[in-house]
Amino acid sequence: MTEHKASISLHTGRTVAEISPLIFGGFAEHMGRCIYEGIYDPASPLADERGFRPDVMSALKEIKYRIMRYPGGNFVSGYRWTDGIGPKEGRPRRRALAWRSTETNQFGPHEFMDFAQELGTEPMWAVNLGTGSIQDAADLVEYMNLPTGTYFSDLRAKNGHADPYGVKYWCLGNEMDGPWQIGHMDAHSYADKAVEAAKLMRWTDPDIKLIACGSSNTAMPTFPDWDRIVLERAGDHIDYFSMHYYAGNPSMYRASDDPDTDSYLASSVQFEEHADVIAAAIRLAKAKNRSKKDVFLCWDEWNVWYKDTSGDGAWLEAPHVSEEVYNLEDALVVAQWLSTFLRKADVIKIACLAQIVNAVSPITTRSDAILRHTTFYPLALFSNHASGHSLDLLVKAPTHETQLYGEVPLLDASASFDAASGQGALFLVNRSQTESLDVTLNWEDAAPQGFSQGWQMSGHDAQAVNSFEAPDAVTAHEIALPALDGHRATLTLPPLSFTALLTRHAPPHS
Ligand code: AHR
Repeated sequence: MTEHKASISLHTGRTVAEISPLIFGGFAEHMGRCIYEGIYDPASPLADERGFRPDVMSALKEIKYRIMRYPGGNFVSGYRWTDGIGPKEGRPRRRALAWRSTETNQFGPHEFMDFAQELGTEPMWAVNLGTGSIQDAADLVEYMNLPTGTYFSDLRAKNGHADPYGVKYWCLGNEMDGPWQIGHMDAHSYADKAVEAAKLMRWTDPDIKLIACGSSNTAMPTFPDWDRIVLERAGDHIDYFSMHYYAGNPSMYRASDDPDTDSYLASSVQFEEHADVIAAAIRLAKAKNRSKKDVFLCWDEWNVWYKDTSGDGAWLEAPHVSEEVYNLEDALVVAQWLSTFLRKADVIKIACLAQIVNAVSPITTRSDAILRHTTFYPLALFSNHASGHSLDLLVKAPTHETQLYGEVPLLDASASFDAASGQGALFLVNRSQTESLDVTLNWEDAAPQGFSQGWQMSGHDAQAVNSFEAPDAVTAHEIALPALDGHRATLTLPPLSFTALLTRHAPPHS
């Protein structure tokens, strides 16, 4: 019989790497109701004069997104950025072919920058390498980043913003490996175009950071050759390499339609493997090119997505597409994904949850209210409390057998320690659907002075959800803190649970 006891040994000096705050990022695409009726909703009685809603803004601020990718996604590969500037009444209505919807262009570059500024997040722009030319990409950099005195920077000033926006992060297209993508290419053609776009964009503004497209997911027939080829050709021209993946129960990438919760709750095995493969491809390309350039991972689309995968907007404005309703098990998978980012803090430097409102999102809006789904809570807890360095933990836990991943530990764990503030954070998922897990924490170096706060999400029903009628059915609630006995503490994790615990350590030199 399995003993449901686990242990975690921590040493505040045994670290993986410094945590990049940009792993707590989001993604806002012109898809469904993410922009219109999401972050921009002038028709709502709640909206301010810019069309932003305080309720949406404050929920987004709770998650504390540090970087925001925009404007797509598949949308960007058919987007003319010049449609979205100038007086609103003169902006063209167009068919957005990626999601079969109607784009009014009432929200464009300036509105996005206002939104990013209000949110306090770093903007990350994707350029169109589908129907767009390398010249269009460089023109957009000129429009956003150059001081006045050139055609596009003067146009920006004429449109109300004399100062350069200084957008630092730029994605070279989106999912160009996918046959569904407007302007899809093979790896060699994409790599050539990305290199030429990179050259022009950097010549326009040498301070920008560039992100090339990796595979759209690990089930692509071209994975991971696409990644290897693009990295070998473009590795010296970029700073980051993108990863995309959507998890599900059952996954939309697998043949079987049968849910399998034990396998689903072991998803971080898949996330780690994916990151390891692409990190290896980066190292291989670097060695092959005799290069000195470091390239880091930018997991700029990640989320759970399998229940509502509709993408047909029927040519409507702000159609209801892909409005996922997340349940408890989805929240536990999101928590494991965030723990994966911490465990891989040495290679993953940017990550963007896809997406932030309504479409594939932790928040759903009505014109008069918003709903926080289950996944909102792990996102907010990690983003607000994981800081400093990620710790290299020694975890011992019982295992159980899963269909997709074989023997998997029941405990998924990550931790951070911020030497400057003396705050530690632990993030724990008990994957078992039936058994609680007694976990002993053991600090190998200085013990904390105590625990300062703790939260937990758990329940008996892996499919339990929140709704406008019962918005707090599945949330993270504060828990009683475990007692500290010298260097050790023990706590019990209920089945199907996520726990976040904060520790307080003596400030340095006290
Ligand atoms: O986030 C939704 C879509 O998923 C994005 O537009 C695309 O890049 C991915 O396939």
